[in-house]
Amino acid sequence: MKILSIIGSPRVDGNTRFLAGKFAEGAMSAGASVEEVILQKVKVGPCIDCDRCNQDGVCKLDDDFGSIVDKMKACDGVLLATPVYCCGVTAQMKAFIDRSNSLMHPFCESGMEGKPAAFIVCAGYPPPETGNIEVNHKARLETMLGILKEMKALEANVTARYLIDTTKPFDPTADTLKTLYRFCVFLRMQALGLMEAVSLGHNKDAVKDRQAEIERAISLGVMFTNMARLIKDKMLV
Ligand SMILES: Cc1cc2nc3c(=O)[nH]c(=O)nc-3n(C[C@H](O)[C@H](O)[C@H](O)COP(=O)(O)O)c2cc1C
Repeated sequence: MKILSIIGSPRVDGNTRFLAGKFAEGAMSAGASVEEVILQKVKVGPCIDCDRCNQDGVCKLDDDFGSIVDKMKACDGVLLATPVYCCGVTAQMKAFIDRSNSLMHPFCESGMEGKPAAFIVCAGYPPPETGNIEVNHKARLETMLGILKEMKALEANVTARYLIDTTKPFDPTADTLKTLYRFCVFLRMQALGLMEAVSLGHNKDAVKDRQAEIERAISLGVMFTNMARLIKDKMLV
């Protein structure tokens, strides 16, 4: 059982890699081997829409992306881990997702069909329903509306309605998870598990001190490996 852990945080010793490491601990205790790809340490440039993958599903840009695809195709399951950056994945993870567009063409196989995926998302703020985060998100929403108004006073309200549902606060973590989930659907993989963790306050590494988060990551790794094994043995589809 080979699991590939793709990590999108530029802070290589931050919360995201820490929890991905705990996930790996769980996976290894359940019999898997885990290989890490730290996007910050390899070269995966952004997609330039050259369209050359349209022919055969192979990205022609010359960097480390191709070798990561080889690893993805050879593994039995993938963990995608990213912090939330401005309501989405990091630039490193986004470049990787965009480049994977080469594997998403409907005319060719992605090589990832049916493989299980898990997601870890680390955020700095809790989801909107808890505590005073409402205030935080309301403030952000108002800032956004303010910017839109400044940009084009007349159309601001209309544009804002299209851009965001103003009746609901933002949920950046959920939006980030959705991006990872859609990526996995486009590659025809199956999402098996996820966790989110929040490092509130001034301690940027707060997640590392939280036993509950650590245990969740470990048990996600165990559960994921056991399910991935059933899928590999065709006992679960
Ligand atoms: C540029 C930037 C943008 C961020 N945007 C958000 C955000 O929109 N929502 C949020 O909850 N946290 C946000 N954060 C906080 C990070 O998600 C949080 O600190 C996370 O734990 C970082 O993961 P790491 O320790 O692996 O680097 C942002 C951090 C940075 C540096």
